[in-house]
Amino acid sequence: MQSLLKSLVLCSFLQHATAQQQYREPAPAYIIAPDPTEYQDWLPPTSYSFSFGNKNDSVTPWKPWHHPRPPHYPRPPVCGVQNPSPQREFWLSTFKGAREGISPFLVDGHDYKVFRNVKDFGATGDGHTDDTDAFNRAITDQSRMGGGKGAGGSTGQPALIYIPPGTYVISSSVQLFIDTQVIGDTVNPPTIKASSQMRNNTVMIAGYDFGQPSTTNFYIGLRNVKLDTTGAASEDTIYALNWAVSQATNLVNVDFIMPVDSQHIGIEMDGGDSGGGSGLFMGDLNFEGGLIGILFNNQQYAIKNVKITNTRTGIAVKHAFSLTIQGIECENVGICVDMGPIDVAGSINLIDSSCERCGTVVNGTSSILLENISVRNSGPTLKVNGTARPIGDLTGKTYAQGNVYRDGTGRPSISSNGTAPIARNGTFLPYTNRGSLVGSDGRYFTKKLPQYEDYPVSAFASVRDAGAKGDGVTDDTAAINAALASNADCKITYFPHGVYLVTDTIYVPPGSRIVGEVWSTITASGEHFADENNPQPLIQVGKPGEVGLCEITDMLFTVADVLPGAILTEINMAGAKQGDVSLHNTHYRIGGAADSRTETACQTESDPCKAAFLVMHLKSTSSSYIENAWLWSADHDLDGDYNQQIGTGRGMLVEATQGTHLIGTGSEHHVMYGYQFNNAANVFAALLQVETPYFQPTPRAPAPWTPNPAWNDPDFSGCTGNVSQCYMQWALRIFGEKTHTLPLYGQGFWVFFNGPNYGACTGPDGVCQINIVDLEGLSKGDGVDLYGLNTKGVENMVTIGGSGGRVAATQAENAGSWGGVIAAYLF
Ligand SMILES: *[C@@H]1O[C@H](CO)[C@@H](O)[C@H](O)[C@H]1NC(C)=O
Ligand SMILES: *[C@@H]1O[C@H](CO)[C@@H](O)[C@H](O)[C@H]1NC(C)=O
Ligand SMILES: *[C@@H]1O[C@H](CO)[C@@H](O)[C@H](O)[C@H]1NC(C)=O
Ligand SMILES: *[C@@H]1O[C@H](CO)[C@@H](O)[C@H](O)[C@H]1NC(C)=O
Ligand SMILES: *[C@@H]1O[C@H](CO)[C@@H](O)[C@H](O)[C@H]1NC(C)=O
Ligand SMILES: *[C@@H]1O[C@H](CO)[C@@H](O)[C@H](O)[C@H]1NC(C)=O
Ligand SMILES: *[C@@H]1O[C@H](CO)[C@@H](O)[C@H](O)[C@H]1NC(C)=O
Ligand SMILES: *[C@@H]1O[C@H](CO)[C@@H](O)[C@H](O)[C@H]1NC(C)=O
Repeated sequence: MQSLLKSLVLCSFLQHATAQQQYREPAPAYIIAPDPTEYQDWLPPTSYSFSFGNKNDSVTPWKPWHHPRPPHYPRPPVCGVQNPSPQREFWLSTFKGAREGISPFLVDGHDYKVFRNVKDFGATGDGHTDDTDAFNRAITDQSRMGGGKGAGGSTGQPALIYIPPGTYVISSSVQLFIDTQVIGDTVNPPTIKASSQMRNNTVMIAGYDFGQPSTTNFYIGLRNVKLDTTGAASEDTIYALNWAVSQATNLVNVDFIMPVDSQHIGIEMDGGDSGGGSGLFMGDLNFEGGLIGILFNNQQYAIKNVKITNTRTGIAVKHAFSLTIQGIECENVGICVDMGPIDVAGSINLIDSSCERCGTVVNGTSSILLENISVRNSGPTLKVNGTARPIGDLTGKTYAQGNVYRDGTGRPSISSNGTAPIARNGTFLPYTNRGSLVGSDGRYFTKKLPQYEDYPVSAFASVRDAGAKGDGVTDDTAAINAALASNADCKITYFPHGVYLVTDTIYVPPGSRIVGEVWSTITASGEHFADENNPQPLIQVGKPGEVGLCEITDMLFTVADVLPGAILTEINMAGAKQGDVSLHNTHYRIGGAADSRTETACQTESDPCKAAFLVMHLKSTSSSYIENAWLWSADHDLDGDYNQQIGTGRGMLVEATQGTHLIGTGSEHHVMYGYQFNNAANVFAALLQVETPYFQPTPRAPAPWTPNPAWNDPDFSGCTGNVSQCYMQWALRIFGEKTHTLPLYGQGFWVFFNGPNYGACTGPDGVCQINIVDLEGLSKGDGVDLYGLNTKGVENMVTIGGSGGRVAATQAENAGSWGGVIAAYLF
């Protein structure tokens, strides 16, 4: 160790004579701030105490609808998507479609401004004037307030904060609120710079909306900015960003520039009493300098493509139950990932990464999966409880520390309760090349959020020009279908913020590019979606067999009413090449908001509504790349205080075989399953997050639904002994004899309550639920690999053969994390 460090210093000195510092490991007791209180289990907030103060009650997207004349929307004479090339201006800076957003449920919502350019509020971006107040004015204008306490509940006051190129100096915090999307110019990303006046212990950008618990901080975004703390004193503790937020948020394409060898921290995630939140995804981030890149504190996350240079600790995990990190590049960093400092880390998967001149790559205590990590000129690849594991470079290798099940027989071959010797010392696992899931660089394929910075403003067309209104009263079906048909392979279709009511399926043809604005909403309404025996898609991406391109970003798909036959999204299309069919930062909501009658119609405890049939269906012909998606059946009301008993039948159904990437997805509170893989093949996942409906087992699943064999629904018929907790949603089902090659990294499957009324868990041994993961009819060697399986509140972590099947792994024998943790379950 000693001599290695000495040679590292020398090596570094020769190679990088100008580098200010060669990092050794930080002192163990470094700053954990600003609130080091221990994490407490999540409890439902007793009162949300906000409401939609001035709601326009004549906007009722469930009916009646105003039918406009069918639009005549010819193919635009000039296209614009054919030849992308570097642009001088970012299209958003001038595009008129981005000034057409409305908030239909707000009284006088047509006068409400969604788009806000900080320069219109007095920001100068001149590199010396203090622009703090201008930023906060842009964000709070028109009575926008925190925590949904403003006039428009949580969903009624969306704001797109656009930051043109420039250097904006701020001296104190800029506060974001729920439903705020900050977008810097992508062509010339702006810098937000801390002034020398910035006081110790300041958060520059407060992304966490303190008006609500961090676990309900939804719909907040920040992208394309450089957060520069170098103007503030190095010895002060400065946080570039507080990101104690939860699902349906996005943090992408942000640089954190901090003085080398300072006390500055890039991201902190403390949300007061409510912990750090329940998030899904962040990615394409860059950290330079500072004490810590990400001071991580959240239930679960997928983190993708992060570069960290000259930082003392790259990612310091204060708390995480399930963390999957894909593509981290640490260079000249003391510890690349430190799970150790407070030790409430449950499990971590670190894959497709590299370390160059790191003191330690991973410092940990608990369940760890490392795969394909290039380690050069560095100290130990892994330290566990202070002892280095001599495992060296992990290029093309997989190494697990923790409990490993590997033969599908249900016996832990290595394990189990922390006493088995090999578990303590870790083990190499077979590394498999996953063919079509891997990109040209030998890593799992990834794709950045498309932002079209290489396209001129003339490449964009607003759906308003095709006659769509987005006002929640007009039937926009024909206008949207006409716009998409005309714009395919020609224009990028922009949806100004609004609620687009549709009464029939929206067909998205190959060649489509769809851009929303602070989650523009398309909502299903009417008969077409009402029949559970003939369910119909709201959004249909291609027809079976179609191949091509479809990119969807920043959209929200919902139901306007109780619609037992609604499938929110069906994907049939395969990409012409990897990632061509992609959905980024596009989410699904059933109930819980002013835009749906389900908010008021589904209030009876123990009698959840059949509010939708299925959220997402990836059909067998499809291939797709889905990054940052939250499939949410509401457990509480965002805009008022109505009790929400939403009983969507199913979460995500995957039958795709041709290459599917699920990066940072969550599927919450659906009656029969969160994720179901049926004859699926070649699916990569970084984080699958599921919560069981809070009302279950009252009623017992599958109620209120009747299982439909045509949809391969689980029927819970194997449950015996009249144990209610057996009749609860499966977080994950994998079956079908054609199933193969499912490398799934990071599962967080949580059960908190036994309904009704958020009741305590009353199952055997005090558990909330008997089964959670179902594997059926698989053959050994199918490549169904669960890495980092985490559960809370269950008896059995893995069951083979359905609800009456064989128990393969229990939570008790895998105690850890939030309940149980398995480092690798390889079938
Ligand atoms: C309420 O919404 C209806 C339907 O969009 C609209 O015609 C009316 O002007 C709105 N009223 C107010 C006060 O915003
Ligand atoms: C900054 O504040 C933190 C937390 O209160 C404190 O620990 C630290 O000593 C302060 N730093 C300086 C330079 O005063
Ligand atoms: C590393 O992990 C250990 C626990 O194994 C912890 O005590 C320590 O604080 C961690 N960090 C450092 C910098 O040693
Ligand atoms: C721990 O696991 C081993 C091997 O599976 C088993 O023999 C032993 O009884 C277990 N100990 C406890 C306390 O459960
Ligand atoms: C585990 O590792 C330690 C330290 O290298 C060694 O002393 C011990 O014998 C190992 N145990 C087993 C079962 O391999
Ligand atoms: C590391 O230390 C913790 C705390 O003492 C202990 O619970 C855990 O089992 C240890 N891990 C290993 C792999 O020895
Ligand atoms: C692992 O990642 C590296 C890049 O860090 C890549 O070159 C390599 O092909 C990957 N796969 C294998 C099997 O080594
Ligand atoms: C099964 O349990 C439920 C609720 O605990 C109870 O109401 C019902 O009578 C039981 N049925 C039988 C057949 O015991």
